[in-house]
Amino acid sequence: MWDTLWTGARLATMTANGQPYGAIEDGALAVRDGVIAFAGLRSALSGRPEMLADAVHDLEGRWVTPGLIDCHTHLVYGGDRAAEFEMRLEGATYSELLQAGGGILSTVRATRQADIDQLVSGALRRVDALLAEGVTTIEVKSGYGLDVEAEARMLRAARRLGDLRPATIRTTFLGAHALPPEFEGRADDYIDLVCGDALPAVAAEGLADAVDAFCENIAFDTVQTERVFAKARDLGLPVKLHAEQLSDMGGAALAARYGALSCDHLEFLTDEGAAAMAAAGSVAVMLPGAFYFLRDTNVPPIDLLRRARVPMAVSTDCNPGSSPATSLLLMMNMAATLFRMTPEEALAGTTCEAARALGMAATHGTLETGKAADLAIWDIERPAELCYRIGFNPLHATVRAGEIVSG
Ligand code: NIG
Ligand code: FE
Repeated sequence: MWDTLWTGARLATMTANGQPYGAIEDGALAVRDGVIAFAGLRSALSGRPEMLADAVHDLEGRWVTPGLIDCHTHLVYGGDRAAEFEMRLEGATYSELLQAGGGILSTVRATRQADIDQLVSGALRRVDALLAEGVTTIEVKSGYGLDVEAEARMLRAARRLGDLRPATIRTTFLGAHALPPEFEGRADDYIDLVCGDALPAVAAEGLADAVDAFCENIAFDTVQTERVFAKARDLGLPVKLHAEQLSDMGGAALAARYGALSCDHLEFLTDEGAAAMAAAGSVAVMLPGAFYFLRDTNVPPIDLLRRARVPMAVSTDCNPGSSPATSLLLMMNMAATLFRMTPEEALAGTTCEAARALGMAATHGTLETGKAADLAIWDIERPAELCYRIGFNPLHATVRAGEIVSG
């Protein structure tokens, strides 16, 4: 017996079954013990639905996708940057604000002052906005603490989000996000702290699933980034990188040499960078919210990534400075309108490829027997509608680990 069986479903399995979206029309999906036990044609069921499961629901033709996965966020932080948004509208640039001690560093000040309860309650509002659109897995980075204790506190806050909400949380240590003011002019000393103290402490407490860095002319260079990656490798943690966002630093190729799960942003990615990512199997995480909000004009090289067969994910980059976004559906719309990704690529980018970017492809991101029963059920006629509307939420219900958690 299955726990629950949904019939009358149109499944966007996001598997390579020869159909767009891996679609199965007139499908059925069953779960048992939080795992998908059947995903296929209704006609392939071995008996009457009521005989097969404790609970049976007819979805009346609604579409079912894998629960959405937001694979790149900075949603734990103190304060906000609305005042800096106004300054940017008056002409200040993102880089200038950071160099003047604002930008990421103003969020660092507010985050250092916040206790864990304040960090959690602020973050929950953003988590709830994501969950309202069918998100079931969220990656959360540190990077606004920039000292041993505040970085660990951010990651503990992130982990707690997963206890408080029906969501799978993956945490990433981003100690090398910006140079904290007390290390001004001593970036290498700060990397000593990251590698010698912060990262080992975080690893010892089991607080991070991966390690990230911001490799950029306003942040850390490739030599400093490589030191962080080497330490991550010693500790057995996979890496990812904020790479080629504002300039070509060669970060993607470096990350690929460390077998990076993903390289993210990539507005200035080169042919060599893309080839290295393809060879390493690194996912390209597209962040159209940051592109839009910073009024960037260098579109990431989508055609190059397609030709090189680099998988593409799409994420909110939810953060207070460059992408105060809590709608993954809007990001899918922007991936299509701004980056010319197809609606199918955009949905793959928030399901199977996002799972890959988190090293979770074996268990999440598609509708297949044996995968986690994380589902989003939508009131739509075709999957392209998930990208098509702006600011409209067609979610009917969310299922997390086999349990109906909304709708
Ligand atoms: O992904 N690029 C660096 N980090 C974030 C921005 C963080 C911030 O501005 O607070 C990003 O865009
Ligand atoms: Fe980011």
